[in-house]
Amino acid sequence: MTHAQDSSANPLTVVILAAGMGTRMKSQTPKVLHNVLGLPLIEHVLHSAAASGAASTVVVVGHGREQVIARLSATFPEIEIAVQESQNGTGHAVSVALEHLGETPAGSVLVLAGDAPLITSQDLDKLVTAQAGVGASVLTAHLDDPAGYGRIVRDDAGNLAEIVEHADATAAQLALDEVNSGVYVFDAQLLASALSRVGTSNAQGQQYLTDVIGILRADGHIVRAVVTQQDNILGVNDRQQLAHVGRVLRDRIVTHWQLAGVTIVDPQTTWIERSVTLEADAIILPNVTLSGSTTVAAGATVGPDCSLTDTQVDRDAQVVRTTAIGAVIGPKATVGPYTYLRPGTVLGTGAKAGGFVEMKNATLGDDAKVPHLSYVGDATIGEGTNIGAATIFVNYDGVDKHHTVVGKHVRIGSDTMLVAPVTIGDGAYTAAGSVVTENVPPGAIAVARSRQRNIMDWVLRRRPGSTSAQAAVANSSSNTNSSEGS
Ligand code: UD1
Ligand code: CA
Repeated sequence: MTHAQDSSANPLTVVILAAGMGTRMKSQTPKVLHNVLGLPLIEHVLHSAAASGAASTVVVVGHGREQVIARLSATFPEIEIAVQESQNGTGHAVSVALEHLGETPAGSVLVLAGDAPLITSQDLDKLVTAQAGVGASVLTAHLDDPAGYGRIVRDDAGNLAEIVEHADATAAQLALDEVNSGVYVFDAQLLASALSRVGTSNAQGQQYLTDVIGILRADGHIVRAVVTQQDNILGVNDRQQLAHVGRVLRDRIVTHWQLAGVTIVDPQTTWIERSVTLEADAIILPNVTLSGSTTVAAGATVGPDCSLTDTQVDRDAQVVRTTAIGAVIGPKATVGPYTYLRPGTVLGTGAKAGGFVEMKNATLGDDAKVPHLSYVGDATIGEGTNIGAATIFVNYDGVDKHHTVVGKHVRIGSDTMLVAPVTIGDGAYTAAGSVVTENVPPGAIAVARSRQRNIMDWVLRRRPGSTSAQAAVANSSSNTNSSEGS
């Protein structure tokens, strides 16, 4: 915990406002559940707030609340939910949260908006520190375009006097570029008392949380403003802003890993979710998406053109043009191009899954190779084994999946069908084009295909005059000539 408050002496309650409709999203999905970089907006806020060491967290829900509750009860089961039946304003929403808690909590209340995912835990730390011993602190920023936001009005001494909503502002106030982020820390008792006095005589006929600031100042309490960068306070109202905050978050995460020693060749086409871990000296080439619990170790190269989800890439591995989900790519292994690794794929040290190879629930031993055009499902393959081009592990009988075991240093011939369940012994071979339905003992070769027969002059008889027939005739006469000459 990095915040300056002693949480036992001055406990912190977090309130996240998420009851609004989000009309401009034009969506069946509640606004706070729209994703940026793999996580709903509100979960970015919850992750940033988690570092504040709050005693409890209340999310105020309203529109689309069934969906919001369903999601959060799975991902953040410890948070509390307060329902705001009708959206009478941000002040009303905070009152609903306090009512949900029963008694007004001791200590301080940190209020956040569920649709502003770029807030950082450092911002929240500063705000909590600033509020210690005073009535409230407000996070503000100077915006290039302050339209729509509440303006920060300061007195002659430069102290925060009040917050005026855009709809209620005078022309002079509209010219102010310092705005309210919608993130505050309040002394809980003072907040409860001020909220009971907030009216609705404003342009929107709502109970504004921002009015609490003016009330606290009128009561003689100190309110501090903490200024942060404009990006950190951006909220999402429409899909264009959704994409914009996604880009800001992407750049932040990319910068973080670059400073940690990762080479990222093309930041603009590199999308790394906040749950991903990279080691120094990993190299990420253009057009790569790393999601979920993916890790990339030192010396490994990923890209170009890869999507890796919940995948472990070990030291010095190389992964090119690959989609992988739930795979483990061992040290020095090579994958791609055009390769699909599905859950349960495990590649050993130096193993290879080459071009147009799909694997699922399959272990490839150290230095074993599946170089080309194969499907490997439900299999265990020993070290040093080579799987010839176009081999299929026939794992599905139409009802159940079955497992295939291929031993060490095996050579599977091209275009072999390994019909599971089947076991190929260590050092065995299969002939190209075999359909293998029975176990092959160690050191044996399985030949499981019909013998070839050639029907002489079939083309000359059945396709007379065709280009094939002409080519065959020309070839036999030139053969005759050359045999005469020798
Ligand atoms: C609010 C602030 C404004 C600030 C801006 C920052 C007020 C009156 N104004 O304006 O000063 O610059 O945020 O983005 O607070 N919500 C509820 N219940 C309600 C109303 C809102 O839960 O009844 C939630 C919304 O879902 C949203 C947040 O509160 O997450 C902010 O509400 P919104 O209506 O977007 O406020 P703004 O007009 O943007
Ligand atoms: Ca808003």
